[in-house]
Amino acid sequence: MEQKRIKIKDLLTSAEVGSTVNVKGWVRTKRGNKQINFVALNDGSTIQNLQVVVDVPNFNEDLLKKITTGAAISVNGEIIESQGSGQSVEIAAKNIEVLGVADPEKYPLQPKKHSLEFLREKAHLRFRTNTFSAVFRIRHAMAYAVHEFFNKKGFYYMHTPLITGSDAEGAGEMFRVSTLDPKNPPLNEDGTINYKEDFFGKETNLTVSGQLEGELGAMALGEIYTFGPTFRAENSNTTRHLAEFWMIEPEMAFYDIKDNMDLAEEFLKYMIKYALDNCMEDLQFLSKRLQEEEKGLKAEDRQMELIEKLNFVLENDFVRLTYTEAIDILRNSKPNKKKKFQYLIEGWGADLQSEHERYLVEKKFKKPVILIDYPKDIKAFYMKQNDDGKTVAAMDILFPGIGEIVGGSQREEDLDKLMNRMKEMDIPAEEMDWYLDTRRFGSATHAGFGLGFERMMLFVTGMGNIRDVIPFPRTPKNAEF
Ligand code: 4AD
Ligand code: MG
Repeated sequence: MEQKRIKIKDLLTSAEVGSTVNVKGWVRTKRGNKQINFVALNDGSTIQNLQVVVDVPNFNEDLLKKITTGAAISVNGEIIESQGSGQSVEIAAKNIEVLGVADPEKYPLQPKKHSLEFLREKAHLRFRTNTFSAVFRIRHAMAYAVHEFFNKKGFYYMHTPLITGSDAEGAGEMFRVSTLDPKNPPLNEDGTINYKEDFFGKETNLTVSGQLEGELGAMALGEIYTFGPTFRAENSNTTRHLAEFWMIEPEMAFYDIKDNMDLAEEFLKYMIKYALDNCMEDLQFLSKRLQEEEKGLKAEDRQMELIEKLNFVLENDFVRLTYTEAIDILRNSKPNKKKKFQYLIEGWGADLQSEHERYLVEKKFKKPVILIDYPKDIKAFYMKQNDDGKTVAAMDILFPGIGEIVGGSQREEDLDKLMNRMKEMDIPAEEMDWYLDTRRFGSATHAGFGLGFERMMLFVTGMGNIRDVIPFPRTPKNAEF
């Protein structure tokens, strides 16, 4: 008789002892003796394995040989009270079918500890480890929480284009999109490439941000957010940069910088709370993993325990201070005086490096920090110019262990001021006419920000490398899979 399949998560939480069920999954381990075997089965629905008890004499020897780590099997059996510790129930196998074998000589994920570096090379299989299944279940939950948060607030999810004909944002180097033959492109008389003959009839790139289009939506729909992939061709080979990453960009009409900060803080806390409420088993697993990893470190080099850290951020107000105040703190800080910073803070105007951001967050305040009012010369053209003539209403949110997690601003709503700034920064106004129309017709105060989804994932999972929180990372010299 065909049995209806039950997921292991549901079985462990609600199935009744004595009932007969079918489970399907992948073998994590098999152990035992000539009388009895124990198979740890995982189907991805939970970090917990289901223990399958196999009464060896009742089964074909060849069949049991094929039940090795990595194999996919289907088991019919009776739910029984668990004998050992751990799970409350297990399943006594009546019938086992091997759906797909995994040759132990060749299957790379044998049951032993593998380094994250090794697993990065096996990214197509790493979902089958506890660590990565936990990370990617949490990633799903975080994406869901983003939509839930904004939907509850009445924001509209807006899909902004990935291919763009504008490169005004200046957030980073771009990837060209072209169908021209690179070996034999059509040329203009002066030898330059004639993009009029390209697919779109002009130069196009992959977008670095959906913000500029997002502003167009906000100036009619009121409050929108984007959540999509963005692309930056910077050659940054760090644990915090990807060439393809996902960004959430809300944009709100009638919000000033203060409203913007309040929303960002509420949003980040909402996501953290969502993880604590919905992903506790996976978080506990990752927390243990992290503690193992940090065992060898001195107490002061160890991070706060993961769940404690998440609760701590949830329960405390973010520190808010101006760039100018931050520069004063940094200039007088120990690492600056003792020349321990790689980039010393000499004076006002310097761009903050991640070592400075992390000093403020991890050493000085030991809390998330929102920095506002940056010098206009280190920020984008569209930011609201403050009355001091020197600063703009920018805001960056800095997180412990991460550095910058959010970048945003109030937007310059005054057409003349915006056009002057564009002229100063050599941004051609003709190409931006569509954007400037929002300031020509019904302009109003508005603001927004961008959250790097993978940086948020780093924070919530406690993972140390951004390559380990996106299924298939794209980084310089790497686009495998
Ligand atoms: O600070 P950024 O460049 O801001 C913008 O793109 C604005 N248009 C946002 C807005 O106001 N709507 O990027 C925003 C965030 C950063 O704070 C960081 O978390 C993340 O995106 N980010 C990256 N994440 C991974 N890899 C990279 N190369 C990233 N560059 C930025
Ligand atoms: Mg930024």
